[in-house]
Amino acid sequence: SKYRMPLVIPPAMPQTPPPTPTVDVDYYEIAVRQFQQQILPRGMPMTTVWSYGSVNHSDTFHYPAFTIEARYGAPVRVKWINGLVDEHGRYLQHLLPVDASLHWANPAGGPTGRDAHPVVDATPGPYTGPVPIVTHLHGGHTHDDSDGFPEAWYLPHASNIPGGFARFGSEYQRFRAKAQARMGQAWTTGSAVFEYENDQDAATLWYHDHTLGMTRLNVYAGPAGFYLIRGGDRDVPDAVLPGPAAGMGADPFGRHYEIPLAIQDRSFNADGSLFYPDSRTFFDGYEGPYFPHTEVPPIWNPEFFGNTIVVNGRTWPYLEVEPRRYRFRLLNGCNSRFLILEFDDPALAFWQIGGDGGFLPAAVQLRRLLLAPAERADVIVDFTGRTVGVEITLRNLGPDEPFGGGVPDDDFAAADAGTTGQVMQFRIVPLTAADPSTPPAELLLPALRPLGLATFTRKVALNEKTAGSPDFDGPVEAKLGIIDENGVNIPLDWQNEVTENPALESIETWEIHNFTEDAHPIHIHEVQFEVVDRQPFDGAPYGPEPGETGPKDTVIAYPGEITRVKALFDRPGLYVWHCHIVEHEDNEMMRRYVIGPMSA
Ligand code: C2O
Ligand code: CU
Repeated sequence: SKYRMPLVIPPAMPQTPPPTPTVDVDYYEIAVRQFQQQILPRGMPMTTVWSYGSVNHSDTFHYPAFTIEARYGAPVRVKWINGLVDEHGRYLQHLLPVDASLHWANPAGGPTGRDAHPVVDATPGPYTGPVPIVTHLHGGHTHDDSDGFPEAWYLPHASNIPGGFARFGSEYQRFRAKAQARMGQAWTTGSAVFEYENDQDAATLWYHDHTLGMTRLNVYAGPAGFYLIRGGDRDVPDAVLPGPAAGMGADPFGRHYEIPLAIQDRSFNADGSLFYPDSRTFFDGYEGPYFPHTEVPPIWNPEFFGNTIVVNGRTWPYLEVEPRRYRFRLLNGCNSRFLILEFDDPALAFWQIGGDGGFLPAAVQLRRLLLAPAERADVIVDFTGRTVGVEITLRNLGPDEPFGGGVPDDDFAAADAGTTGQVMQFRIVPLTAADPSTPPAELLLPALRPLGLATFTRKVALNEKTAGSPDFDGPVEAKLGIIDENGVNIPLDWQNEVTENPALESIETWEIHNFTEDAHPIHIHEVQFEVVDRQPFDGAPYGPEPGETGPKDTVIAYPGEITRVKALFDRPGLYVWHCHIVEHEDNEMMRRYVIGPMSA
């Protein structure tokens, strides 16, 4: 069997004593470091990865990272440290091939991306410098100076950084000044101090790297973790759901019935190292040309699909479960893969109780659960009545290629049943105590807090141009854009001026027009939005899926459709919205946007 190692349940991240003891926040000092982990089954080589951990506890470095446990209304402050240095304090190089012809956070400076390489004939050469990082709390209602803006990256504090290298991105200093004025805590070299207010619903958030033009590589190397908010008036009382819930911080290893599951696809070299393609040889779809138009590796790939499934940092793990209810916090942490999950036990369902940003108004019973990259689902699975010794497999039907919507077998080929079609295994063990949790069909979930009426409708576009299409003879490119008042679709790059500028405290509907051939998970920072509806270009609108009826921060925009979301934009500043297929995000499928005055 491929299920050879037990699931790891990431414990709660330990706090650090704050530098200013009077400060009333949950304080953490968290570094990204490089280390080895047994991701493949024991007996096979270890894998060098990066992840976060508490600087006070060297045993907290794990991929994926330990879970930050936050409480409603209690701010969390994190000093995020770029610790990608060796034992002599010298910078470490990237584990993966960096394509330096993209528009990216190039610390060596000089022009990057389209401006530098309108047609790239020669490669700029492999990047061997220090690694920029910056952390984003995905789904957080965050001030812009703490949001992990892609150009607020910073290098590690290292002794051997070459002269002429920028130590931080173009927005780092401005945000540092702003954050320092607000929090009164200095930022030291190689770090950033971010604060999260946690003035939002109880939810399953996650944190991960967000560096411009290299998020796909940085996140693939490991840095990501769960961030759970509990409490407030849109949470469910303890003991109603399988737990422990509130006690988790006090008893970090005791969370047997509530378990976060980060599902990711990865590929490995024979020596155990992570494999990520540096050329197009491994992408057996369209052969190009793509932008950037270079033939020399390392070359960006339009998507990545691994050949193994890794859950909480182990390939195909198993979990012993009692015949009772469990609460799983599911995250699709894949770079490009859409997951369609189901159990091989046809009587077993997901009772979805929450989505990205909080609880649904009512539990929804689902036989199959679709999760796009970055989406989360809070689910109850009821193993009650299963016989001890029985093994149940969680399968994936999401394809080993780009997803365009529809159902497996009819509209697309499901994942390879022998590999990426399997996720993890549940083994039934004897019940240790009666299950006090409420059966999901009887659950009362907190009422929604609906937004008011939108005062503005904004039309944005997802574009993809293919070599050979009538109006275009360049390389393939995917990018965002706007539809102007005359209905003209204007594709835009990261560097084009800001076009999305909601007024502070305004409610807007965003219409996402998808002109490409694939589905894209679209993520808007700062907000949790309502999914209003979807409408085929030539058809009638239809309502959100049952699992999309709670607060969301990432929504699937299907090809040939308009996807409408509505949000309250209530923190001023500079943010981003983007596709969360991280390969797309890294190559111009991301736009800056500003809430309130452009000068804020
Ligand atoms: Cu999960 Cu802008 O990211
Ligand atoms: Cu995309």
